[in-house]
Amino acid sequence: MSNPQSAPSIPVLSGAEIRQTFLDFYAAKGHQVLPSASLIPEDPTVLLTIAGMLPFKPIFLGQRKAEFPRATTSQKCIRTNDIENVGRTARHHTFFEMLGNFSFGDYFKEKAIAWAWELSTEVFKLPSNRLVVSVFREDDEAYAIWRDQVGVPEKRIIRMDEKDNFWQSGPTGPCGPCSEIYYDFHPERGDNAIDLEDDTRFIEFYNLVFMQYNQDAEGNLTPLSAQNIDTGLGLERMAQILQRKPNNYETDLIFPIVETAAKIAGLTYDECDERTKVSLKVIGDHVRSVMHMIADGINASNLGRGYILRRLIRRVVRHGRLIGIERPFVTDVAETAIAISEAAYPNLRQRETAIKTELRLEESRFLETLERGEKLLAEILAKVPAGGQISGQDTFVLYDTYGFPAELTQEIAEEQGRTVDMEGFEAAMEAQRDRSREAHETIDLTVQGSLDKLAEHLHETEFLGYTAANSTADVVLVLFQGKPVDAAEAGMAVQIVLDKTPFYAESGGQIGDRGYLSGDQVVVRVEDVQKDGAFFVHKGKVERGSLKPGDRVTAQIDLACRRRAQANHTATHLLQAALKKLIDDNIGQQGSMVAFDRLRFDFNYSQPLTVEQIERVEDQVNTWIAEAHGAHVAVMPLTEAKAKGATAMFGEKYGDEVRVIDFPGVSMELCGGTHVGNTAEIGLFKIIAETGVAAGVRRIEAVAGPAVLEYLNVRDKVVRELGDRFKAKPEELIDRINTIQADLKATQKQLEAAKAELALAKSDQLLEQAETIGEFQVLVAEMPGADADSLKTAAERLLQKIGDGAVVLGSAPEAEKVSLIAAFTPAVNQKGLQAGKFIGAIAKLCGGGGGGRPNLAQAGGRDPSKLADALAEAKQQIKTTLG
Ligand code: ALA
Repeated sequence: MSNPQSAPSIPVLSGAEIRQTFLDFYAAKGHQVLPSASLIPEDPTVLLTIAGMLPFKPIFLGQRKAEFPRATTSQKCIRTNDIENVGRTARHHTFFEMLGNFSFGDYFKEKAIAWAWELSTEVFKLPSNRLVVSVFREDDEAYAIWRDQVGVPEKRIIRMDEKDNFWQSGPTGPCGPCSEIYYDFHPERGDNAIDLEDDTRFIEFYNLVFMQYNQDAEGNLTPLSAQNIDTGLGLERMAQILQRKPNNYETDLIFPIVETAAKIAGLTYDECDERTKVSLKVIGDHVRSVMHMIADGINASNLGRGYILRRLIRRVVRHGRLIGIERPFVTDVAETAIAISEAAYPNLRQRETAIKTELRLEESRFLETLERGEKLLAEILAKVPAGGQISGQDTFVLYDTYGFPAELTQEIAEEQGRTVDMEGFEAAMEAQRDRSREAHETIDLTVQGSLDKLAEHLHETEFLGYTAANSTADVVLVLFQGKPVDAAEAGMAVQIVLDKTPFYAESGGQIGDRGYLSGDQVVVRVEDVQKDGAFFVHKGKVERGSLKPGDRVTAQIDLACRRRAQANHTATHLLQAALKKLIDDNIGQQGSMVAFDRLRFDFNYSQPLTVEQIERVEDQVNTWIAEAHGAHVAVMPLTEAKAKGATAMFGEKYGDEVRVIDFPGVSMELCGGTHVGNTAEIGLFKIIAETGVAAGVRRIEAVAGPAVLEYLNVRDKVVRELGDRFKAKPEELIDRINTIQADLKATQKQLEAAKAELALAKSDQLLEQAETIGEFQVLVAEMPGADADSLKTAAERLLQKIGDGAVVLGSAPEAEKVSLIAAFTPAVNQKGLQAGKFIGAIAKLCGGGGGGRPNLAQAGGRDPSKLADALAEAKQQIKTTLG
């Protein structure tokens, strides 16, 4: 490909120098240099930051004002849509850095083109005869700028269609025509038949997007309020060009990682075959992705970006195994990757422990999964002829029961010339989802034909419950068995919509209020309140009288219940704040539940918390409670709340106006729930459990307020009951139980010793069955009922007694279980009988396997009915060899 001799004037720059040169160039042209944004985008429509423009999307859309008219960044990006090509082509990556210059309604095509050309030809000194540019087919303006102002010959300006030269960040959002600059590795092939798709000749390195439209979901384009510039120059690609390398992976940005992996595998990169090189490159690429993802606070899980992380780590492990690495190695290659990038991304070293811990955990989990899965898959593959297909059901069972990823089944199957019925797999997955979908009772007013009635009632339910516990209200709709009724009588279970209500409807994890609706003629007990769109649906029972639409009632919530929910809800906020403060600032809410008697909070963290950490968190929350912090509740624009540093739940969609619950200096969160006015109202907080709910997600269960006392009372009762039973005071219980357990253990030991003695005594009777074969003594026998340990003791003892020779014993200690052992003296080994191999083969006859050392080996099987035959075969084989 590139040939240093043919382009002598091009400077050789390191990756770090290219990055700095780019930023300096645009800084000198009035661009504000901004740091790379997180890989977790603010934009909830994308999982990961996929381009340099993503952090600026709200500016392009006119939703946020730009602080600077021009900016330049080196943005870390991850794209996984081409994951299959990683390592196979010269330039596909999951992780890459995009150097960009941006104009927010400031300069447009002319300057963007002129500067891109200046940077390429004068700073990076790429000869102009090695550059080709493309423009959008209809963009005559860009075409003219390249030809007339820059002076690119017409043959080197290629018009392309919207597939290639119209850029958009997703199915909707800002977009526009673009113009790209390509480097030509072979200018000697001439200008007559330029094919920019030919990647043996060309590499696209700079994309200039003229952002001027917004695209809606139907594909309609509307002009943006301003004309903007968004560009992307691939750092790795420029490094390939300037460092004269045949591909991106051999540049200084990635190659040290590749070499570390090669070294661990005992390989030298240059001597590797293509397949091995692909694996090394995949490792080099993916490790960069995963370290940055973890550094930005992503934990491996089975959902969303957590799943992308998990999949990438698993691919690293798997490719490591493909090139012969048997031991855990991912943290070693990650260390090299951190070392290369830490100067540009200091958070990598700061988060080193988190990165390595997460990688270590995921790797070891996956190695276990792999070992098990690979064995099972080998069995499945053995039954599928070459060219055949593995069923979707088998693939599903491997995934669902054994955690073996379907992509991996597919990859391994393909390596062995088989395919996988992925459609069948997806169907099995879907069926599984249907099965496990909880039988939620949903209230859906639309299907109940009630919406017409509600339409008469023009406004949504007004919620008064932030400040009021009771209110008069008009009954808008009464449903019985899902259908609107004209009246409901005593005894009926009903659903009621009011025009306004103090009842909180379940949302944001907080349970709905309880209480009563009452009027002159009627009492309804409200047992739950749910939301359907903008309407609050009160579920309950008519206890007295009758109720019809149009009635006026007094709605009264159960204040004791509400206070409990509030104490638990505020405690949840304090808990999140304490976890962030004491454990890890990257912790964020993954889910929560606030009931009257307890609370639950799920958060991203890859390890169990220690007892000490839990105590500290609990102490911190109780300290805040005792300090009596007052609540400040305010409604403000989302941007203002974010600017103030309010915690938002990731992935949650918020409106433009948000409600902020602020306990100044302690916790500030966006939340629609109800809260205490002062933390002192909570009283007390107690964590009762800390568990894992999914990989990378931990759960804390806790109680607050009066529920703490209830919890302690239950415990207290249990302890008192135990005290009675064990005849001990609470503080003596542990000692007492320790003594009982020690006694139990001693008794078990005695029992085992007695069993072993019995086995030995029985085994002595077997001596009579020993035979002389050639110059050896051979004993093959069944020892009914003996377990594996007894067999071993007996075999060793018998071999000692018979002298030079062989002892083979078998037993069927349980249904569907066979134990076998072979013990051979060295002279038998010299005759070619190795205990490990020998007993493994015999065990196969009983539906099992096993092995061990040449002189002593144990094995097992599943079919006791074959034991006698297997022992006969063992004797026969020994006779043949020793006789
Ligand atoms: N946003 C443009 C791209 O990603 C520059 O190619």
